[in-house]
Amino acid sequence: MPSLKKIAVLTSGGDAPGMNAAVRAVTRGALARGWEVFAVRNGYAGLLANELDPLAARDVGGIIQAGGTVLGSARCPEFAEPAGRTKALANLRGRGIEALVVIGGNGSQSGSASLAREGFAVLGVPSTIDNDLYGNDVSIGCDTAINITLEAIDRLRTTASSHQRAFAVETMGRNCGYIALMAGIAGGAEVIALPEHELQPADVAARLRAARERGKTHALAVIAEGAKCGVHELMDYYGAHRPSIGFDLRVTRLGHVVRGGAPTAADRVLATRLGAAAIAMLAEGRHGVLVGMVKGDIISTPLTEIAGRMRPADASLLELARTMAL
Ligand code: F6P
Repeated sequence: MPSLKKIAVLTSGGDAPGMNAAVRAVTRGALARGWEVFAVRNGYAGLLANELDPLAARDVGGIIQAGGTVLGSARCPEFAEPAGRTKALANLRGRGIEALVVIGGNGSQSGSASLAREGFAVLGVPSTIDNDLYGNDVSIGCDTAINITLEAIDRLRTTASSHQRAFAVETMGRNCGYIALMAGIAGGAEVIALPEHELQPADVAARLRAARERGKTHALAVIAEGAKCGVHELMDYYGAHRPSIGFDLRVTRLGHVVRGGAPTAADRVLATRLGAAAIAMLAEGRHGVLVGMVKGDIISTPLTEIAGRMRPADASLLELARTMAL
């Protein structure tokens, strides 16, 4: 690719803490090379609506600590259609933009792969609390979401213990159990239910009962949003079997709370490194890839390899969690 002059950056899909730090890194990394940078507002939807405006270094000042995304985000089914992408490409080319950096999760990077297939220079930066992207160990936002979930678990344990209760805490993650697994281990949960390793409500109840029989004053079940044994199934089971279980059960669904608020230091640093690496790759004429962190190294994986694939949580860690719940 001849040397670049104009690039655009967008954030897409569910917002994630650290997206702003990535926008800042991409923008300042590009400006430092003398390139022009355009912000696309509201993800792919804004690209279709031609909502682009120039970004200067000061425009991305004071955002590294802010949650959400200052660029706005959206889910945009229209972009999955060829006509939508044709419109998006016309809008980019109409302004002389030569490359696009897409900061987002699984669906967003499938969108990037489609643009790459159509010959446009795209760089993907993985950002989703779900941490479900293939070609990347840790995505921007998931550390913060784990820590928010953990804080809730720690708080619920104190009230659970005071009342000799069990709590089922549901956390986000779509079809990936990564947040639940990490927060469950860090929070010392008695049970962790993941989409990657299904449990029946009777299994969860049996483990809670066993915890009581071992003398525990509380029991915590961390339930991933995508697990088949969800909080409703568990409540129904409890309704029918309460007397034989011992603990009373309460349910807390954390929902979008885990996606909001300021990013952790780890997410800010990761976002800064990946955003800057995306620009460095573009400068070398590399594109059509996701810039990811694997085993501590920054690597690139072709977007076409990533599209439609998922990185599951490592369910082998469940055994460790179970041993530690003794
Ligand atoms: O992908 C991020 C995520 O927060 C998932 O964990 C969750 O399933 C989904 O987005 C919620 O989507 P929405 O914000 O559109 O309700």
